[in-house]
Formats: sequence, structure tokens, C-alpha cells
Amino acid sequence: MASVWQNNKQLRKWEGKHFKENSNGDFNYNLAYPLEDPLVNAISKYINIDKEYIYVGAGISQFINTIVGLNIWERIILPDIEFALYKRTSELHEKEMLFVKGIHLNDFIKNFQKIKTNKNDLLCISSPRWFNGEQLSKNQILEILDFFKGTLILDEAYVDYSNHENEMLDLCIDNDRVIIFRSFSKKFLASGHRTGYMVTKKQIKNMRNTIIPPHSVTSYSENFFVSLLNDKKILSAFDETRSYIKCNRDLLYNSLQEINELEVIKSDANFISLIFENEELCNKIYESLSGLAGIQKFNDIVPFIKIWINNERFSKEVIRRIKETI
Ligand SMILES: Cc1ncc(COP(=O)(O)O)c(C=O)c1O
Repeated sequence: MASVWQNNKQLRKWEGKHFKENSNGDFNYNLAYPLEDPLVNAISKYINIDKEYIYVGAGISQFINTIVGLNIWERIILPDIEFALYKRTSELHEKEMLFVKGIHLNDFIKNFQKIKTNKNDLLCISSPRWFNGEQLSKNQILEILDFFKGTLILDEAYVDYSNHENEMLDLCIDNDRVIIFRSFSKKFLASGHRTGYMVTKKQIKNMRNTIIPPHSVTSYSENFFVSLLNDKKILSAFDETRSYIKCNRDLLYNSLQEINELEVIKSDANFISLIFENEELCNKIYESLSGLAGIQKFNDIVPFIKIWINNERFSKEVIRRIKETI
């Protein structure tokens, strides 16, 4: 299936122009002063946060690999259904792990509250959640920070599809126990560029020079996103694309939630999850959706199907096939 970049003439043209400008044979890449990194500066301007608190890396994946593995954490706390790299990285570093149950965020918070924590614990949670797209409200995060004694990683890979893109950023400016991860993979539908950033006031020794080295991202990707963040027309083309995706997501949600046999969770991400009590119905619905792009089945604590939002025709076809199956 063609990507948004391939389908959109304006984006194709912009990419071609950008490629020409940057194909100049300059392969030097000296970042002698990491804080002068042009992308750190462009992001700082874009989100209006001091560059001192911004770190650029090769996608959120790099931040997970490096930050979760640090020996300053005594225990890694994860929701029992979470983006798998958190668990894998914790296992690799032989970390003590604790899993908190909760299909809905409210239940997660209630269960988490019962656990005694200490200042060297690290809680990692995606919001909107990798599992079902549910987003923590600011009050919920403040509530967590009140009873939880450790550091919180808020993985905002999908935040650009929510209605609260910038609300949580000041949390990490007000509180050095909060680390926010952001990615251009979902925001600009450009995961191949392997670029993301972290915002935190937390001081971790050698973070800028060795833990998150300033040479993680290629100069080509750096230039690409610096140009993109400075181009109002392209930024608004993406706003439109995301609004369109959000619209089709809500169309799908509104139709699916009317079906009694299904549990659908209101998502703030670019996907919707259907959650099942038994595998049988999950398999039946998954089969009915076969041949459509962007349908994934999981059996991770509970059986669920993730539907990645596409165009209106896609949403309507998903609804038609599910209604026919039930
Ligand atoms: C919750 C979450 N965090 C991080 C990532 C990885 O992001 P990146 O491409 O920036 O490494 C993903 C990718 O699927 C994700 O779902």
C-alpha cells in the first residue's frame, strides 16, 4: 500500500526539492557542541521549551534502549500490556520488573496505587497507550506523581493524534521526575528516518555526551526534520492528514461501539483496538478483515485486534465486514 508521502503530491514535491538541496556532497558531520545541534534548536523553537532539556535520538527506540537499561533504576514498572521493547530491554539488562494490570487506565491507576514504590523505580507507560489508544489526562498523571515515588517515562509516540498534543510538556518542566519521549515516526509518518526526541529536566550524568550521543541521527534526517519543522505549509498539510485520520477513527469508533458484542475503547491514537473475552470471536473477526491493510491480532493478556486508521472507504469497509460477521 502506498504511504501518505507517496500519495500526496505536495509531500512528494517537497521531498524531491529537499533531496536536491541536500545532495551537495557534504558528508562532514561534526557536532562539537551538542547543544548547537540544529535539530535540538528547531525542536526547542517548535515546542517552546529550552534546548537544554531536549535530546535528539534515533527514534524512541533508542531512548528506550538506553534509558531503561541504566543502572540507576532498581525496578522497572510496566502496564501488563505495553509496547514490547520496554519489557525486552528490561529483560536484557536483567532488571527487576513489576507489571500492573488494567485494561482501562482508571483500573491501572487503582491497581498501581496499591503498590509501595521507591525513588529508584522507573514507571514506563505510553500515552496514548500502545495497547488501546487511551490517553492519561493531566490530572491522572498528577495523581500518579503524587503517590508514586519514582521517575515516570511518558511515551508520547501517538500524541499527535490526540487533542492534547502539548498539554503534558510542562509536566516535565515542572517536575524532574518526568521524562517525555516523542517520535517523528508517527507524527510525520516517517519511521524510516529514525528520529525522535526526549524532553526532561532530569539530570543523568553524561546523558548528552555518552548516554544519548549527539551523533545518533544521520545528518540527512537531521536536515530533513529541521526543514520540515520550519515549513508552515508542510506542517499544515500534516495537520490536515492527521485531522482526516482522527475523523475516520471517530467514524469507526462511533459505529463499532453500537455493536453489543464488541468492546471498543475510545482511542486518542491513529488506531482503534477491539478487545475480546474469548479468542474465538477475536479470530472470527480477524478472519473477516483479512486482505485489509493495517489489521493486527494480539493475544497479550487479552485477545485484541488493532485497526490502523486509513481513509473513509477503509473505515466503512471494516464496519461492513464486522457487522456481517456478528
Ligand atoms: C508506544 C511506542 N513507543 C515507541 C515506538 C517506537 O518509536 P520509534 O519509531 O520512534 O523508535 C513505538 C512504535 O511502534 C510505539 O508504539
